Amino acid sequence: MPLLDMNLARDGNICFWTSSVGRKLLMAVTGFVFIGFVTIHMLGNLTAYMGRESMNAYAAFLQGMAHGGGIWIFRVIMLTLILVHICTAISLTLDNWAARPEGYRKQCRKSATWASLSMRYTACILAVFIVYHLLHLTVGWSQVHPSFVHSDAYGNFIKGFQNWPVSVFYIIAILCLGLHIWHGIWSFSQTLGWAHPRYNTLRRHVATIWSLIIVCVNISYPIAVLSGILI
Ligand code: HEM
Repeated sequence: MPLLDMNLARDGNICFWTSSVGRKLLMAVTGFVFIGFVTIHMLGNLTAYMGRESMNAYAAFLQGMAHGGGIWIFRVIMLTLILVHICTAISLTLDNWAARPEGYRKQCRKSATWASLSMRYTACILAVFIVYHLLHLTVGWSQVHPSFVHSDAYGNFIKGFQNWPVSVFYIIAILCLGLHIWHGIWSFSQTLGWAHPRYNTLRRHVATIWSLIIVCVNISYPIAVLSGILI
């Protein structure tokens, strides 16, 4: 029986917060929604390769969804999911630390993958990146993006990435995102009970290909601007 079914079926009740498997499921589902968002966002940004008009039309479409209400519904949902994801991660980490004596903790660390150990560090870098990214390309705070012009998403994108330290920061953050997503997909499939020798190669391939696509396409944006392919 998958791990999920065994642990959730206690007294016929599903108490997500008190059961560690319930919390893992919450992390997995919220994480999966983010991966979906990042994938769609990355595909939408491909309009940059079609020119200023296409990208600006796409940005205007997003801003105008449901008479401007759609973007706010999206923001509230994403913020709620991010808070649930972070609180669940902290709560599970604290439980793990409390349950394991120091010697055992060291042993576990040895068998963990590099990606799983780096989850906490990549998460912190991503949190900083998301705040920076919103101030940079959505809010257009003058301290972060001095030449920001509302309703010119393409111009903001080009001018933003022409600043090479900013591009380098984006590239580092996107590499962290790749690692985080790789381990996220791996853990998500484990939480769903697919950790089986029969499926492990497939799980590894899906995690690797998906995160590689996200890293390569996202990194292509700052590189295309810095190299003058997009102007
Ligand atoms: C190089 C890669 C990226 C580019 C070129 C890019 C570009 C943009 C642009 C132009 C906007 C503003 C859209 C508008 O105002 O209509 C935006 C918004 C946003 N981006 Fe990105 N983005 C990138 C990577 C990411 C990543 C990796 C994440 C998440 C981890 C992310 C999350 C967001 C969010 C949450 C918004 C705000 C949507 C809103 O509420 O208006 N972006 N991005």
